[in-house]
Amino acid sequence: MQFEVFTLLPEIFPSYLDTSIIKRARERGLISVRVHNIRDYTHDKHHTTDDTPYGGGGGMVMKPEPVFEAIETVLSVAEGQPFDAAQGEVVSPIPIILLTPQGRVFNQNIAQELSQHKRIALLCGRYEGIDERIREHLVTDEISIGDYVLTGGELPALILIDAISRLLPEVLGDPTGAEDDSHAMGLLEYPHYTRPPEFRGWKVPDVLLTGAHAKIDKWRREQALLRTLMKRPDMLAKAELTKADLKFLKSLESEEKSDK
Ligand code: ADE
Repeated sequence: MQFEVFTLLPEIFPSYLDTSIIKRARERGLISVRVHNIRDYTHDKHHTTDDTPYGGGGGMVMKPEPVFEAIETVLSVAEGQPFDAAQGEVVSPIPIILLTPQGRVFNQNIAQELSQHKRIALLCGRYEGIDERIREHLVTDEISIGDYVLTGGELPALILIDAISRLLPEVLGDPTGAEDDSHAMGLLEYPHYTRPPEFRGWKVPDVLLTGAHAKIDKWRREQALLRTLMKRPDMLAKAELTKADLKFLKSLESEEKSDK
């Protein structure tokens, strides 16, 4: 998977990309992240990337020319003209994703969907906003990482890179690594324990020490259901549940009633 990041602040990226699993994935050639400075695609003396908004009001707006030039140059050079020159519109199948609080809210399903692509472009907004023509004629998708406003799209871009990369084959050491993740199966993940078996008087649940895999799997599934019910009942309503799951949830209901 090749990520092409377009930003005015490329210095934000190296420390995260040079750490841990993402670093190893890059070294092993499983992912590649190229960070492009939009400022390099300006042609005036001051390398201007922003300007005041038409119509007045506060803040600055990202100018369209350097953003178009950066993305068109980078994507067409390697991909053999994915742009329809006559139309001036992108015909590339490469998603060009603007990180913005106005986008669809990122989740595990979107990470899965994006992990199917070979190449993705991530455009990080800064200032008060971007010129609307970038959104209308260049960008193919808009993603938000949540209902709050950050100073720019750089952290959201890193979040997408991280969440997508760990879904790719071989990126996690364990081949089943991402299967049990919270959200991957529509439920929150079960609790984890490691040594020691007792810490400050708090014991690891007995079942985990038995080595009985079927029992452990059942316990983990029930814990995942219980957690999701307690913390994210909205997820439980949408999760794919087996007959055994429903029976377990019913048993909780009757337990609760008998407690009253
Ligand atoms: N840029 C600023 N806030 C953002 C958010 N919540 N998600 C994505 N990009 C952003």
